[in-house]
Amino acid sequence: MLTDSHHRTIRYVRLSVTDRCNLRCSYCMPEHMHFMEREALLSYEEILRSMQLLHTAGVDKLRITGGEPFLRKNLLQLLASLAPMFDISITTNGVLTADYVPALKALGIRKINLSLDTLQAERFAQITRRNQFSAVMHTLDTLLLHNMDVKINMVVMDGVNTDELHQFAALTANNNVSVRFIEEMPFNGQEKGFSGIQWHYQKILAILGEQHDLHKIPDAPGSTSLNYSIAGHLGHIGVIPAYSRTFCGSCNRLRITATGGIKTCLYGCDVMNIRDGMRNGLSDEALLSALQDAVWQKKKDGFAAAALNRPMLRESMSLIGG
Ligand code: GTP
Ligand code: 5AD
Ligand code: SF4
Repeated sequence: MLTDSHHRTIRYVRLSVTDRCNLRCSYCMPEHMHFMEREALLSYEEILRSMQLLHTAGVDKLRITGGEPFLRKNLLQLLASLAPMFDISITTNGVLTADYVPALKALGIRKINLSLDTLQAERFAQITRRNQFSAVMHTLDTLLLHNMDVKINMVVMDGVNTDELHQFAALTANNNVSVRFIEEMPFNGQEKGFSGIQWHYQKILAILGEQHDLHKIPDAPGSTSLNYSIAGHLGHIGVIPAYSRTFCGSCNRLRITATGGIKTCLYGCDVMNIRDGMRNGLSDEALLSALQDAVWQKKKDGFAAAALNRPMLRESMSLIGG
């Protein structure tokens, strides 16, 4: 078991399979994003070896992220190798996802988090700098048609989409979907000014509460979201205090960036690089022991220290994997 100095056991890994993306969300990356060289990314062999090691160390939950995971060639093949070891979920922007839904289902992968920040085509093009709204909505329809376990991630941006909170909540009326409203975080890859949190999760809840009767439902341990049911609605809503962070105490996750960096906190620096370890010929035992040492440094209060010392605006969520 991988355990930290606060006796938290790491069972959940988020793996970014590529930093590339076919959208350019303004809160995530600039139009002219500098992507990593292909050789810098973990190869599938390296991913498999890392994940086998983590599996033997007790990790049983894996989230596949990016960038956009479906841009990575032969992703299904990788998923097929990983599916017997982990409970897999995927975070995707939905541009290419629809065609893969039956194959994902066949692999037993049903949990899909879909990024969608607006229900208006023109606004979608402004936020993402790409005209892919209808493709993403087609993915949403396809996921619902196949009864997948869908969570919609909506990043709440001051003066951009805050007038749509109620429309998003309305999606839960007749659909078994969870809509999560996310506080914006300071990772935009472009050093674009970030003036601190404008839409605190409590403000989001207060506005939703004006029109909906919200009932708190229990959250799974380590859940990023605080979840609510709405009387008469099939689905749920949630808020993710991604910036004000209420969930660090129970955080049981580890991150692997597209280039093999291991992060014990989203806001922290890489604590080791597993790709370099493998390319330098480390044995499985040596890699596992380095991983355990890295995890041991995991702090409950990683954010406070990290936020003071790191120029986060230069980083994009696409490499870290969200
Ligand atoms: P599930 O709870 O398994 O559905 O997934 P998730 O909410 O962790 O994953 P998802 O990829 O959908 O991320 C939703 C939002 O939560 C993104 O904006 C993430 O960056 C943010 N988030 C995920 N993990 C953390 C974390 O450890 N700390 C903080 N502050 N934010 C996080
Ligand atoms: N702040 C909050 N959420 C973000 N995401 C990407 N960048 C940011 C940011 N700066 C979200 C995406 C996706 C999830 C993995 O992270 O919308 O749903
Ligand atoms: Fe791509 Fe997701 Fe970043 Fe948007 S937030 S540019 S979809 S990686």
